[in-house]
Amino acid sequence: MRTQVGIIGAGPAGLLLSHLLYSQGIDSVILESRTREEVETTIRAGVLEQGTVDLLNAMGVGDRMRKEGHFHDGFELRYNGRSHRINVRELTEGKRVTVYAQHEILKDLIHARLRTGGTIVFGAKNVSLDGVDTEKPTIRYREEAEGELRELTCDFIAGCDGFHGPSRPMIPQSVRTDYERRYAHGWLGILVEAPPSASELVYANHDRGFALLSTRSPEIQRMYLQVDAKDDIANWSDDRIWNELHARLETREGFQLTEGRIFQKGIVSMRSFVCDPMQYGRLFLAGDAAHIVPPTGAKGLNLAAADVQVLARGFEGYYKAGKTEILQRYTEICLKRVWKAERFSYAMTQLLHRNPEHSPFERRLQLAELEYIASSRAASLSIAENYVGLPMDFEGVS
Ligand code: APR
Ligand code: PHB
Repeated sequence: MRTQVGIIGAGPAGLLLSHLLYSQGIDSVILESRTREEVETTIRAGVLEQGTVDLLNAMGVGDRMRKEGHFHDGFELRYNGRSHRINVRELTEGKRVTVYAQHEILKDLIHARLRTGGTIVFGAKNVSLDGVDTEKPTIRYREEAEGELRELTCDFIAGCDGFHGPSRPMIPQSVRTDYERRYAHGWLGILVEAPPSASELVYANHDRGFALLSTRSPEIQRMYLQVDAKDDIANWSDDRIWNELHARLETREGFQLTEGRIFQKGIVSMRSFVCDPMQYGRLFLAGDAAHIVPPTGAKGLNLAAADVQVLARGFEGYYKAGKTEILQRYTEICLKRVWKAERFSYAMTQLLHRNPEHSPFERRLQLAELEYIASSRAASLSIAENYVGLPMDFEGVS
């Protein structure tokens, strides 16, 4: 098989890229190791920046998001039993965030891509890359475990295969710098059958640790608790989870958290990671394959969407006008924005989580920072403009 751009991974990065290329008349094939059902049911975050929403709408895949998504004009910071609302819409001149689960976006993207004749090979086994520094890179894979080895010959390969995929290791260690920060804490996440307890997301800093109240639909809520990254979900009975949520989300005004049946729970670890460069020869990394943020700022999917917009413009320039400027500057253009999102996600994580290594002095500084944000328009604006998404910056690229 032959294609112009071979894409590894049918997550947000791979699927969005395939759509963008299709709209430019550029051919692509996606190879995905998981089944379609697995891809469409894996629970992930779901906060979309304005730019990501605009992209989905422009691609014609925003219908269900517009109907079923929740549009939030702000969010709440909670600490010392008090609430402070960040009025995102007012501070950012009309921008807002949309809460719509990532797997629902994936369903919409897969459905639309298959309808337009796109090729997505689900359940691909033994995916490997070859010749990424030559003119004709190839991807080898099997459709079944014992099946014959197939070959996809490409002009370019887009490594959209997440943090553990085979693409990033193809960039030799000698030319690559990996920047990494791990965190001692993780997030215990639950899905609950209950009505929302708040009209917007609540980020709570409490002596017992961070808690987050999010939503999925009028009937299903998403909630998180800071726990030790090495903790075992077996240690967390439903009762223990509810006790912690009640304690960490309490307010002086008597906030009421509505309980319900917990039908999904799990613990995820957190890390910050950046790979520089994001390109080697004819291999381009996008999304989690190149960088990871802790979930506190909800930036993961949005960063993937930003990368592939740069990459699609690069391929468009190459195929339509023989220009390689954007492709050559791919790492530089993407990492500028990525590092700002890394900074924001790290800062939100430090601001909101209890750090067991903090001295009482550092704990008071954390609370003073929250007080400062609550009392300063400039500090609130800084959080709001990052939360809603920094602009794409192509700087002089035509
Ligand atoms: N062969 C083929 N596909 C692979 C392989 C492989 N060897 N390894 C991983 N994949 C697939 C995964 O199964 C997954 O569907 O690549 C896809 C990568 O998708 P994501 O991990 O979602 O990464 P990305 O598309 O960059 O999206 C980034 O979405 O999933 C979230 O936390 C993530 O929020 C972040 C954002
Ligand atoms: C989520 O709803 O899963 C979610 C919301 C906000 C975050 C992270 C995750 O910051």
